[in-house]
Amino acid sequence: MSITMETLTALCKRRGFIYPSSQVYGGLQGLYDYGPMGVELKKNLANAWWTSMVYEHEAIYGLDASILTHAHTLNYSGHCDTFNDLMVDCKHCKTRHRVDHLVNPNQCPQCGSFALTEPRAFNLMMKTNLGPVSNEDSVAYLRPETAQAIFTQFKTIVDTFSPKLPFGIAQIGKAFRNEITPRNFIFRVREFEQMECEYFVHPSEDEHWHQYWINQRYNWWIDQGLDPDKLHKTPQPPEELAHYAKATTDLTYDFPHGQEELEGIANRTDYDLGAHSKNQDTLNLSARVKPNSHSTQKMAIKHDMKDLVPYVIEPSAGLDRGVLAVLTAAYHEEQQEQAKRVVLKLKPHLAPIKVAVIPLAKNKQPLVNMAKSIQQSLKRSFKKPIVLENSGNIGKNYRRHDEIGTPACITVDFDSLKDTTSDDKLIDTVTIRDRDSLSQHRVHIHDIQSFLNEHYAY
Ligand code: GAP
Repeated sequence: MSITMETLTALCKRRGFIYPSSQVYGGLQGLYDYGPMGVELKKNLANAWWTSMVYEHEAIYGLDASILTHAHTLNYSGHCDTFNDLMVDCKHCKTRHRVDHLVNPNQCPQCGSFALTEPRAFNLMMKTNLGPVSNEDSVAYLRPETAQAIFTQFKTIVDTFSPKLPFGIAQIGKAFRNEITPRNFIFRVREFEQMECEYFVHPSEDEHWHQYWINQRYNWWIDQGLDPDKLHKTPQPPEELAHYAKATTDLTYDFPHGQEELEGIANRTDYDLGAHSKNQDTLNLSARVKPNSHSTQKMAIKHDMKDLVPYVIEPSAGLDRGVLAVLTAAYHEEQQEQAKRVVLKLKPHLAPIKVAVIPLAKNKQPLVNMAKSIQQSLKRSFKKPIVLENSGNIGKNYRRHDEIGTPACITVDFDSLKDTTSDDKLIDTVTIRDRDSLSQHRVHIHDIQSFLNEHYAY
């Protein structure tokens, strides 16, 4: 089903996923805070990415580099010169727009007037100064992509771990862009997280590995619950390629506001390693690489006894856009007899809460005790969020957990507590309600864990 951004934003706020940042002071445009449910969902998605990249894939090393970045790094990478968007101002309504977002090149999308200024380049990087003196020598940047530190640490990792080609370095972390027009909830923001892997390959094999990563990443997103009909492999036209790319295929998704980029898989060639290298003249680099007079390292690997600068295939995904895509895919409305049911059909490994344990009545101590003891025992064995809901309103609890995406609710009722001397089969049993099918199973308390393991891939 399709969902509007307003509906999704409202659900995210109502259920503690995502809030506008600095709300008490009127908010800051393009910045969001993740609430108790959102932080779990985001961490779960990041963990799934890290597991598939670093633990399941061969020869991919992890990195967690600093956000503040040396000005030389971003100068030689080309970002100081080229990481720009063209913008125009409307002289009539005083709004500002990105030129590539205008539907009609001369017309203001806000008020319809034709009073637009000439386009001007605007560098998207956020600048700061390190230390007490603010001058050109103390300039540093909040990184606009996590990738650059992977390139500048390339030689250190090669020297420590002696990998053979192909191998990769993966990183998850914050990136910052002073977007001219942040919009569409968490889709285009000024502070966001990226999940990036730089995969170093022999230059003669670049196209093979590019295709490999496009397919690999497509399948991974499907495993996170995205709808295959709404996930597209979209090659970028040559005129839209970033300054470093020979070819890029985007994975685009049908978000509530339209089909847009979720992840880019770029062939960055030897552009970045070459640009950060010393002794460039000894390395047979591509013509586009910027001459470097500051680097202290030769960014090469020994291959067949010679220095080789590998090509780089880069799958680069936005974590926040990933959260948005996963929420878009999970959102369902179902018409029931009396009311509409809103349910997030999140994959169990992504769900913020794995199980809710609900005593049927809040002031019946034996019921509450039994529910508490089930919750404690599941918490000990799963080491994941398992909550106890003790408001006594079972319908309300089901509605809440449907909207949060909790895969299973366990209800402790009066039958669970029947006199242990009776031979009733319901003694010490609970009801497990499945979020998606709404089926209810009566399960003995000793079998709860194996039932959950069998039915949910947490
Ligand atoms: N290292 C390559 C790189 O940064 P990019 O296409 O500019 O390439 C990669 O960014 C991914 O980062 C995008 O596919 C998107 O998911 C995410 N991203 C980029 N800008 C963003 C923004 N302003 N807000 C949220 N996510 C963004």
